[in-house]
Amino acid sequence: MYIEKVNTFLAQKYPEEPPKACVRSFGCQQNSNDGEKIKGLLSVMGYSFTDDTDNADIVIFNTCAVRENAELKIFGIVGEMKHLKKRKPDVLIGICGCMVQQEHIVEKIRRTYKQVDFVFGTFAMHKLPEILYKALTERTFIVDTAEYGITENICEKIVRDCTYKAGVQIMYGCNNFCTYCIVPYVRGRERSRKSDEIIAEIKGLVADGVKEIMLLGQNVNSYGRGLDEDIDFSRLLRKINGIDGDFRIRFMSSHPKDAGRELIDAILECEKVCKHLHLPVQSGSDRVLSAMNRGYTSAQYREIVDYARSKKTDFSFSTDIIVGFPNETREEFEETLELLEYVKFDSVFSFIYSKRNGTKAALIEDGVDYPEKAERMNILLKKQREIAVERYSSFIGREMLVLIDGPSATEGKVTGKSDEFIIVEVDGDSSLAGEYVKVRIIGAHNWALIGNIIN
Ligand code: SAH
Ligand code: SF4
Ligand code: F3S
Repeated sequence: MYIEKVNTFLAQKYPEEPPKACVRSFGCQQNSNDGEKIKGLLSVMGYSFTDDTDNADIVIFNTCAVRENAELKIFGIVGEMKHLKKRKPDVLIGICGCMVQQEHIVEKIRRTYKQVDFVFGTFAMHKLPEILYKALTERTFIVDTAEYGITENICEKIVRDCTYKAGVQIMYGCNNFCTYCIVPYVRGRERSRKSDEIIAEIKGLVADGVKEIMLLGQNVNSYGRGLDEDIDFSRLLRKINGIDGDFRIRFMSSHPKDAGRELIDAILECEKVCKHLHLPVQSGSDRVLSAMNRGYTSAQYREIVDYARSKKTDFSFSTDIIVGFPNETREEFEETLELLEYVKFDSVFSFIYSKRNGTKAALIEDGVDYPEKAERMNILLKKQREIAVERYSSFIGREMLVLIDGPSATEGKVTGKSDEFIIVEVDGDSSLAGEYVKVRIIGAHNWALIGNIIN
């Protein structure tokens, strides 16, 4: 109902050409996927799109709360919007996503950022038409951060940012409450989508020519819990693998406590599933892992890696690491370095611990100062660069299938991702974007492999 109302209102207000929306998503792939759904809704309500806030009639910031830096950056950008509002008083400015699912943030916006017209939380995306209608007609500050908990698609249409790669949400929320993490507080409890709905969405994408599907969830290994169907994540993978078509399957993120042999077997037996596992370990120290409430030990993590590599010697792993969790000792940090040395990850996403109000870890009195944490971060980055070069060199001479993304920083070259999720650089131009090419690896940078196209 509100969709039609907004549509009619906009057609009258902008009779010549459709108004323009600028949607900017920050944070993880789930947020980007939400951004694409928000664009879907805006498009059925009559908006076209721009990347430039200056040209927009509505600007929506889809925010991330995972680290303090992410929040500061967003406040900086929203602060700038004061000027746009002054120049174009009719422009609407909205903030949604994880950050505004925290009360103190909404209060700060209400008090300090008067240029903002509306705020809606991670549960309220389907309410956007109603919120927008009120914002357009009433011009008062609107907030909706209620926890609605729906899992069906909010709109038939999703405006995808990429034509050949697509994210598909298989579950929402998180039940793990790692002690440092804000996500369970801003995304609510775990809810899985019915497998039929997921399959139907993927079939549609494949029919549209999408070549890579990324299954999304905070802990995809708990997929299926609470559903009426007899299903778990490994079985879902096998079902998706059975869909006809030329596409590959990835997923994000797995939690080590629930990633067992069954998962590795499913990855290895499903020909469309990439032989790569992003498995965030966070720390190599059992004391720290326990303080983080991660639910596994460093030895249990190594067991998963050992099992995968006993089946496929070069099975590819990537991970996330938090450096400087409260009171992490130098020895405990060194255990993380030892784990990196043991596993030899293809890539490591490392973060200095950031205190998040409302989490358990925020209550710990931290005896380690920031310069020490920054130094540890540098040591870790250096170590991982060495490991990556060594691991990448071992790929020289191999054939890989690469899905090309677009131009490289090096002129005359393009980059894409291999099955292992490693960046590969080859000769070519942007006409190759979205194509699979067979490549022979002939060398390595420390950030990518270098290959020759051989098909
Ligand atoms: N659900 C995913 C991770 C989501 S957040 C998982 O459990 O694997 C992505 C990464 O951000 C985490 O893996 C962690 O390494 C990092 N992270 C989360 N909270 C953080 C914090 N408070 N400070 C620093 N890094 C954090
Ligand atoms: Fe955060 Fe842990 Fe949940 Fe990942 S599993 S989203 S790190 S609480
Ligand atoms: Fe950030 Fe929310 Fe994702 S906090 S990492 S955007 S789930």
